[in-house]
Amino acid sequence: MKHNFKEIEFKSNDWIQSVALRYEILRKPLNLHLNSLDLFKETDERVFGIFMGEFLVSSANCVLLENCVKIRQVATHGKYQSLGIGTSLITNIEKKIQNMGIFRIEMNARKTSLDFYLKLGYCTIGNEFIEVGIPHYKIYKDFSS
Ligand SMILES: CC(C)(COP(=O)(O)OP(=O)(O)OC[C@H]1O[C@@H](n2cnc3c(N)ncnc32)[C@H](O)[C@@H]1OP(=O)(O)O)[C@@H](O)C(=O)NCCC(=O)NCCS
Repeated sequence: MKHNFKEIEFKSNDWIQSVALRYEILRKPLNLHLNSLDLFKETDERVFGIFMGEFLVSSANCVLLENCVKIRQVATHGKYQSLGIGTSLITNIEKKIQNMGIFRIEMNARKTSLDFYLKLGYCTIGNEFIEVGIPHYKIYKDFSS
């Protein structure tokens, strides 16, 4: 399926699509609402997406820390899940990060999506914990420099 990876500019129309996608896939099922403080935080983040034409089908936010990148808010549109789109999003982000000279990714992954990340070569650190009311694992992946 033809799709394109690209960076999403803060407050652009594509960014509005990503806010809507993340609300629908990540927050609504947990009865969580968006607040402007959450969105304001994104001025310090980079958002990447997979598009089919102009339509955003998957996106993720990246927080640049000193020696690693933390990925958060990974979501694929319900109709496009299990088609390889999420894999394409994460592997493109991994390439981007390595090109920036950063060789470690960390994230708090929902237990329900853990297998997705394990297939992509991520490892868990420590025990299961609760975040936003549901079980999570801290996971990471190191790349050789
Ligand atoms: C997790 C998620 C981002 C994966 O995106 P996707 O586009 O469906 O991923 P892919 O199609 O590239 O899946 C790759 C592989 O992981 C598997 N996989 C995908 N989502 C999975 C899940 N939730 N649990 C277990 N395996 C999963 C797929 O079956 C596929 O396996 P295969 O290669 O053996 O067929 C997507 O399912 C999603 O948005 N889920 C709801 C929100 C969520 O949990 N986000 C993660 C927060 S940490």
